[in-house]
Amino acid sequence: MSSSTISPSATLPATPSGQVTLAVVAKTVEADGVCRLRLADPAGRRVPDWAPGAHIDLGLADGTTRQYSLCGDRWDPYAYEVAVLREPDGRGGSAYVHDVLAEGDAVEVGGPRNNFALVPADRYLFVAGGIGITPLLPMLEQAAMLGTPWTLLYGGRTSASMAFLDRLARWGDHVVVRPQETHGLLDVAGAVAAQPAGTKVYCCGPAPLLAAVEAACVDLPAGHLRLERFTAREQGPPARTTPYEIELATSGRVLDVAPGTSVLDALSEAGVPVLASCRQGVCGTCETTVLAGVPDHRDSLLDDDERRRGDCFYPCVSRSASDRLVLDL
Ligand code: FES
Repeated sequence: MSSSTISPSATLPATPSGQVTLAVVAKTVEADGVCRLRLADPAGRRVPDWAPGAHIDLGLADGTTRQYSLCGDRWDPYAYEVAVLREPDGRGGSAYVHDVLAEGDAVEVGGPRNNFALVPADRYLFVAGGIGITPLLPMLEQAAMLGTPWTLLYGGRTSASMAFLDRLARWGDHVVVRPQETHGLLDVAGAVAAQPAGTKVYCCGPAPLLAAVEAACVDLPAGHLRLERFTAREQGPPARTTPYEIELATSGRVLDVAPGTSVLDALSEAGVPVLASCRQGVCGTCETTVLAGVPDHRDSLLDDDERRRGDCFYPCVSRSASDRLVLDL
């Protein structure tokens, strides 16, 4: 179909795997070691809708898949934007994006998925470390649009390495920029202590920053702290070391799962593939509804309340604490 026959209001149809094919329409340097990609349909159709905090899976031609937070204009229906930090010790995905991926290249895009949604609050404190600014940018823009008071505390190694300082400049005193080279580590405890009751705290950044924010927010009411992790959280020992059963509700089939096998692999071996991406309990792609039984949650996504509810789990890493888990599959 040629672009002239496509309505500008048409939304790209997803493949059965939930992916769409987009093209890199712009690639720009955003800061030292950070490039920004703008992805759009070459035929000009709308991309699937998203909300602040969402991420997409980027399937690259080198065979890797990576998750990146959407950082563009939430109200632009025709393009996604992501910012990618070059990670010298990474698994190669960021090097590929920086060194190989070029304008005009096609990429497979999965999602968007949102494990970090902005929920209503009297006020927000956003805390960003380095590339962790990406999911928070659309959030603070949404908060501003809604008239909800907010503050951003933003740290990074150097000001040259901190992305989007230009875009943040318009927000004046709402934004506190603290490069480590001149200010040391972020005063997270001071920032949290200065907030009035009713403030919700959103943080994205490296593990030590997340740990500092968790410690500073330990007395906040449940649900007032939301974290977005780049890497999996350390987990304690599993709830059980003996085999358990997985029942598939739609067919009544029962699978035996050995302790050393992930539920995801057990499902796949039984011919019941579940879409997965990170396989570390970080991205949310494999979320599966639990109808009965007690999951042993080993992901880095659910908060304590969500874990207690026990109505969904991530089979790439999570297991069963009960003898049988009944899944909505
Ligand atoms: S595949 Fe990413 S959470 Fe399971």
